[in-house]
Amino acid sequence: MVYKWFLFFLLLLKCNANKINNNNNNNNNNNNVLLILVDDLRPALGCYGDLNAYTPNIDKLAEKSVVFTRAYAQQALCAPSRNSLLTSRRPDTLHLYDFYSYWRDNNKNNYTTLPQYLKENAGYATKSIGKVFHPGISSNYSDDSPYSWTDVPFHPVTDKYKNTRVCFNNNASELARNLVCPVNVTSMPRFTLPDLENLNAAKQYLSNYSKLKPFFLAVGFEKPHIPLKYPEEYLKFHPLSKFKLKNYYWPENITSLGYNPWIDLRQRDDIINLDLKFPWEKIPEKFAVKIIQSYYAAVSYIDSLIGELLKKLIELKLDKSTTVILTSDHGWSLGEHSLWAKYSNFDVAVRVPLIVSIPKKTKSQVYVKSIVELVDLFPTIAELIKLPIDSISTTRIDSNMETKQ
Ligand SMILES: *[C@@H]1O[C@H](CO)[C@@H](O)[C@H](O)[C@H]1NC(C)=O
Ligand SMILES: *[C@@H]1O[C@H](CO)[C@@H](O)[C@H](O)[C@H]1NC(C)=O
Ligand SMILES: *[C@@H]1O[C@H](CO)[C@@H](O)[C@H](O)[C@H]1NC(C)=O
Ligand SMILES: *[C@@H]1O[C@H](CO)[C@@H](O)[C@H](O)[C@H]1NC(C)=O
Ligand SMILES: *[C@@H]1O[C@H](CO)[C@@H](O)[C@H](O)[C@H]1NC(C)=O
Ligand SMILES: *[C@@H]1O[C@H](CO)[C@@H](O)[C@H](O)[C@H]1NC(C)=O
Repeated sequence: MVYKWFLFFLLLLKCNANKINNNNNNNNNNNNVLLILVDDLRPALGCYGDLNAYTPNIDKLAEKSVVFTRAYAQQALCAPSRNSLLTSRRPDTLHLYDFYSYWRDNNKNNYTTLPQYLKENAGYATKSIGKVFHPGISSNYSDDSPYSWTDVPFHPVTDKYKNTRVCFNNNASELARNLVCPVNVTSMPRFTLPDLENLNAAKQYLSNYSKLKPFFLAVGFEKPHIPLKYPEEYLKFHPLSKFKLKNYYWPENITSLGYNPWIDLRQRDDIINLDLKFPWEKIPEKFAVKIIQSYYAAVSYIDSLIGELLKKLIELKLDKSTTVILTSDHGWSLGEHSLWAKYSNFDVAVRVPLIVSIPKKTKSQVYVKSIVELVDLFPTIAELIKLPIDSISTTRIDSNMETKQ
């Protein structure tokens, strides 16, 4: 599968695979990379044919991109998926299926990351903004600094208000910690939200950027990860009436072993107030559609931030020299199989959007329907900028060809 994707790109780029150039050949600055990671985003996007989506900016990006309709994460969990994407190693290789270890702590596993590879072999300036690596031990409490990044990684100050009571409750007598949480940004702590801070930091990074070096900028937007806290004005694109539950029932004979009871939702006040019997009682449909509505509204919010980021690229005349890749760490079940979670291997939890726009190369919207995986990104970007991939990935790809059958 990896090779198929490569072959496709080789055709697409009409580039000669033998012409790999080991020299630092990037001083024409034609090879910037902007990686946009959107947390827990399933392809709830207009360009993926989702009629409920309102995502004009991502759709516009897709108009000159390759849109992969069957792109898959390695695992429907943030830390293993992100570490896998960034090292092009599977969770099996990194021995990480949860949040609790750092791959470099095992000498044999000191794998190079994509930004590190660009930094060390092609002189890239590399910057992480927002949630790129999963924070905490799985990236050594440092977003894998100093190995991956030339700059200090940026995190929004307002991340710390994640669990502050700011959401309107039905009875409005006091604010709550809700799952469904449209807010008035002007009444938020510091009058902002984490992703607004991420956007500003990314715009500032691009404005500051010195053309002496190519850049690899990774921007990790934090929504639509729960809680669904987003500026309330995005609700106007999403009347409740358009949302219907799909496959809202348990798979037949499901056992508790095969079922994740969405514990993380049950800690939010609005879910607590539903007083559901653990673990099987379903969220009442009336509330369930509100969750879906807010997921789509949060996606529209992120879409508008992505629009601003891409506008900034154009304003700074960097659009002609910057490859833009938009993807996610995994999807999320919006009620399918009675789940409200990632965690599973259902298609809705592991399938991700993957949109790749390469200046002068991807001139119109092309859909690719073959299966690709997020481990494919690293070797593909390396190849795109003409860095050899043999030393980093031949072994991996060869050994994976067997396990991929
Ligand atoms: C792991 O890799 C980094 C970056 O290449 C290097 O600086 C470090 O010494 C390596 N650590 C071990 C234990 O090999
Ligand atoms: C992880 O962070 C700790 C504390 O800062 C540091 O001592 C250690 O060297 C780091 N691990 C690696 C592999 O760099
Ligand atoms: C209003 O909210 C408070 C605090 O969450 C709760 O204790 C109370 O039961 C709610 N009243 C109604 C009528 O829902
Ligand atoms: C948002 O909050 C600000 C300040 O508290 C207020 O002036 C404004 O009217 C509110 N906007 C909406 C739409 O509620
Ligand atoms: C951009 O430059 C300003 C002024 O030198 C500096 O304060 C800021 O930290 C820089 N921002 C980023 C994201 O590099
Ligand atoms: C579910 O369990 C029943 C009773 O054991 C069995 O008859 C049925 O075939 C099972 N269904 C599936 C899909 O396994």
